[in-house]
Amino acid sequence: MAMIVSVDRLRLAARQTLPRWLFDYLDGGSYSESTLHRNIAALSEWRFVPQVLGALPQPDVRSSIFGRQQDVPIVLAPVGMAGMLSPDGEIKAARAAAGQGVQACVSHFSIVPIERIVQAVDPDFLAFQLYIFRNRDITRDMVSRAWDCGIHTLVVTVDTPVTPLRERDARNGFRNVSRLSGRHIAHMMVRPRWTFRAARAKGRTIGNLDRYGMGSNLFAQAATIAREIDPHIGWDEIRWLRDTWKGRLVVKGVMQPDDSAQAGRLGVDALVLSNHGGRQLDGAVAAIELLEDNIKAAGSVTEILVDGGFRYGTDVVKAVALGATGVMIGRPYAYGLAADGEQGVADVLDYFRQGILSTMTLLGAPDIAALRDNRDRLLRNL
Ligand SMILES: Cc1cc2nc3c(=O)[nH]c(=O)nc-3n(C[C@H](O)[C@H](O)[C@H](O)COP(=O)(O)O)c2cc1C
Repeated sequence: MAMIVSVDRLRLAARQTLPRWLFDYLDGGSYSESTLHRNIAALSEWRFVPQVLGALPQPDVRSSIFGRQQDVPIVLAPVGMAGMLSPDGEIKAARAAAGQGVQACVSHFSIVPIERIVQAVDPDFLAFQLYIFRNRDITRDMVSRAWDCGIHTLVVTVDTPVTPLRERDARNGFRNVSRLSGRHIAHMMVRPRWTFRAARAKGRTIGNLDRYGMGSNLFAQAATIAREIDPHIGWDEIRWLRDTWKGRLVVKGVMQPDDSAQAGRLGVDALVLSNHGGRQLDGAVAAIELLEDNIKAAGSVTEILVDGGFRYGTDVVKAVALGATGVMIGRPYAYGLAADGEQGVADVLDYFRQGILSTMTLLGAPDIAALRDNRDRLLRNL
């Protein structure tokens, strides 16, 4: 049974654990943060119509994501610098996920280098998220490193040609200054447990990037990396990756149905509809709002995942009923990681699993196919 009672509670625990500049980096969004809130509101607009008589107590929510069978339709989203939330955080998160048969997508901006993650976690449970850098030699090197590690799913994120202002980061001097300041130290002094652990930990830089000389400390790297992402990428780059990457190719961050159709034509295996958790285009729609249009456009060969604002098992069931292959979760597991390391992530996954199962039972849906077949009876947008 999950030890946690809600993601909101876990968020508070993370706030009490992390120095303010780090919590705000994790928790915040761009400008007014309206998209951050919209993600949650849009999910709550879908309401269930219960179907209780004849319900089955043990629903089956197995589904295939990125070519792998999973017990629950959830993947851990790439979260940059997750290893700052807890020492070796990327390893802890991926290990907790693999322990429950769930895949984790490692961020390009991982504190623990991928070579070290695959020593601890079966790469079959891992995907690697790539940003296309202006420097194509670095980009190519990163892609080969992922493949050489035995990772066969590449998730290329395309929604970050620029990084808009994130007010909380700007206020805290994170990602715009290149050294630790008195203000950061003040935040750390009131979080002695985190600070003590971080001081003893090995990873104090974005270890995945260390070899490319983008700054000698975390603050310098954090200030540089957004500028390294190529703002001019287009379909040529997707075509290039499709031609060179022998494994499954996933594009993350599209929202326009035309783009999904084009990705399908180019042989992209899966899409993640996403507004980057409300951290990019402020005022953007939530992915769930455009899910059905994108499914229609992409055709049946493409898997379509969604992310942004998923906080309950009920949210996951809504997305799957609407036709999503699965859901990525970002902040929920990151809060768990900050609050309680590997166990915290395992608890979050367990919490989602229990929520998904009870929801399916209350909808009288024995499996995902039944849920989709009865979508009009079971779901209303109000
Ligand atoms: C702290 C933080 C860092 C993130 N870093 C990345 C990243 O490096 N690459 C990426 O593709 N998405 C990144 N994202 C976006 C997530 O992959 C995901 O799209 C988003 O968190 C989903 O929304 P949710 O947090 O409401 O679940 C990040 C999100 C957060 C909160």
